[in-house]
Amino acid sequence: MTIAPRIDAFTPEIAAETAALRARVARVIPDVEWPAFAPDIAAINRLKREKNAVILAHNYMTPEIFHCVADVVGDSLQLAQRAAETDADVIVMCGVHFMAETAKLLNPTKKVLIPDMAAGCSLADSITAADVNLLRQKYPGVPIVTYVNTSADVKAASDITCTSSNAVAVVESLGVPKVLMIPDEFLAQYVATKTKVEIAYWKGHCEVHERFTPDDIARFRESHPGVVVLAHPECPPEVIAASDFAGSTAAMSNYVRDRQPGRVVLITECSMSDNVAVENPDVEFIRPCNLCPHMKRITLGAIRQALETLTHEVHVDPAVAGPARLAVERMLAVPMPKS
Ligand code: 13P
Ligand code: SF4
Repeated sequence: MTIAPRIDAFTPEIAAETAALRARVARVIPDVEWPAFAPDIAAINRLKREKNAVILAHNYMTPEIFHCVADVVGDSLQLAQRAAETDADVIVMCGVHFMAETAKLLNPTKKVLIPDMAAGCSLADSITAADVNLLRQKYPGVPIVTYVNTSADVKAASDITCTSSNAVAVVESLGVPKVLMIPDEFLAQYVATKTKVEIAYWKGHCEVHERFTPDDIARFRESHPGVVVLAHPECPPEVIAASDFAGSTAAMSNYVRDRQPGRVVLITECSMSDNVAVENPDVEFIRPCNLCPHMKRITLGAIRQALETLTHEVHVDPAVAGPARLAVERMLAVPMPKS
């Protein structure tokens, strides 16, 4: 049975209850939009307390989610680490399916919910466990390093996972001359520029980052002199070469916080700039907009419904949960280099 989303009135009580949050996001959410968000925000924050739930939100969530209902925000690695640690009864993953699956792998006794089951990922869809088994035959004895943007089945068929923030450290931790990185061709090519380890790779792409071009960067530099260009490592190599810095979503956010560039452009998903802008009022953000349609399936209405009905629960097939967990735990044991 589908439950129709509830539309509550923006009462003076709701306005008062959400006033501090309204002030926090004033720079990125127009006044006209707030009455549509505030009732769901108030309801979600009450439901979290009632159900002993924690909301983990990826850096690509829209600002009303990221700043107004999330308990923990971050990149894929940070969300996995915090999912492993939480003692809440319910984890609501505001991100895509592989992130919820990773949370379930690391904290299997908790109820892990995703507000929309269809929130997938083009990288995760680009490879299957059967492909990985064929790659093992093609590259005998070569360790398989798998981006977390994959299904639990694919993780289970791999040796270790990585994220965009620890990929170089994970590859070098293996102490071998060659590894196979799957499924993101561009992340693998980026890592190859940072290590002497030989990298073989699969040709999966992120549908959001593969669309950026060096011409986009040239246009930003021409129209906004002095702009600092930060790119995600899922971008094509020519885009990274034309940028000033490449790093995970958390690394980009930290760069802005720590270096306070006068003008910056984040070559990544749209919502990142809004979220980072809230905490950096003196930085001017140039905002290219490539939306991740999967991340954008997560809305306040869907989160509220997930908490009210305790759906949609994410399960991992017990046959793959053990080896998939091992691959993720091996990654979490790799020390992160100081940035
Ligand atoms: P991060 O780990 O850098 O947050 O990347 C996740 C992702 O899906 C980027 O497209
Ligand atoms: Fe996947 Fe790209 Fe969306 Fe990240 S931005 S979830 S890699 S499709």
